Amino acid sequence: MKAWIHTKYGPPEVLQLKEVPKPRPKDNEVLVKVKATTVNRTDCGLRSAEYFISRFFTGLLKPKYQIQGNEFAGVIESTGKAVTQFAVGDNVFGYNEKTFGAHAEYMALAETEAIATIPAGYTFEEAAPLLEGSHYALCDIRAAKVESGQNVLVNGATGAIGSAAVQIIKHLGARVTAVCNTKNVELVKSLGADEVIDYTQQDFTKTNQVFDFIFDAVGKSSFGACKPLLTKKGIYISTELGKNAENVWLALLTSLGGGKKLLFPIPTISKNDVVFIKQLAETGKFKPVIDSTYTFEQIVSATKYVESGQKTGNVVITIHH
Ligand SMILES: NC(=O)c1ccc[n+]([C@@H]2O[C@H](COP(=O)([O-])OP(=O)(O)OC[C@H]3O[C@@H](n4cnc5c(N)ncnc54)[C@H](OP(=O)(O)O)[C@@H]3O)[C@@H](O)[C@H]2O)c1
Repeated sequence: MKAWIHTKYGPPEVLQLKEVPKPRPKDNEVLVKVKATTVNRTDCGLRSAEYFISRFFTGLLKPKYQIQGNEFAGVIESTGKAVTQFAVGDNVFGYNEKTFGAHAEYMALAETEAIATIPAGYTFEEAAPLLEGSHYALCDIRAAKVESGQNVLVNGATGAIGSAAVQIIKHLGARVTAVCNTKNVELVKSLGADEVIDYTQQDFTKTNQVFDFIFDAVGKSSFGACKPLLTKKGIYISTELGKNAENVWLALLTSLGGGKKLLFPIPTISKNDVVFIKQLAETGKFKPVIDSTYTFEQIVSATKYVESGQKTGNVVITIHH
């Protein structure tokens, strides 16, 4: 089968399209014929190893898992003999954060991992980007314990994480102020934002409103600048480490007091989360924003675009077998 492999960390050019053996599913695994995948910031972060710490999970000197790709949608091609939850021909989607492998024509993973049948009415291209941004958003929203009636600000509301966050927070019944660029004001309103701040016109930290939760989904602000905007027990979460990794030690420091807190949750995903996101998708509460679609052969171009930090939502890759 064809797969994009990388044998060393580095720029997008380390990715090479190669012929490699098709995976053979173990007894508890399904073999997925991948129809659509994505290139996202997680792929880029792990491939570049921009943060050295990621190498403790993906290989200290060189990548342990040569085929990248965490999000996928496709068809079950075959199943291991102990598989009970899926059958050949099922249309599935999922997120493989342990061994990756979605940037290939076929991938194998255990049936108990983050995989489910695709939401009714969804195409493979629509289903592939359902989980990367949304599971990070979900993890942070749960950590902040967002409730109906709260006032929440989402900075970077047009990224994969931010656009999912706006929709999930609205589903929970909170009021959302979203921060984005002029060109995306209408898009963000269509996701449900109650108020939009155009960051090219106004610095959101200068607003006189207060928020129960400030979610910087693009990591462009700081706890210091946002603290005056938080309610007494308000929560601040950023998707980035911050200057000199300040968000890690500020999380420890603010956990000691009873007031405003910075949280730095470690993201996780389970099959239950996949089922939850699927339900939101089927009931029209969440739909991933798709920026553009590239072919499998164009993964390097797609990667360069994603790394520009300017994608709106998600970048999808289609695989024609
Ligand atoms: N290291 C990792 O493994 C990893 C994994 C996942 C995510 N992350 C981090 O999480 C963040 C979000 O990722 P993502 O995929 O959701 O989004 P993304 O692709 O990085 O897109 C960010 C969005 O934010 C907007 N933006 C750019 N500058 C902004 C600013 N100053 N203020 C407000 N919005 C701004 C951009 O659109 P407009 O400017 O056009 O509005 C773009 O739509 C990134 O910082 C990424 O590095 C890291």
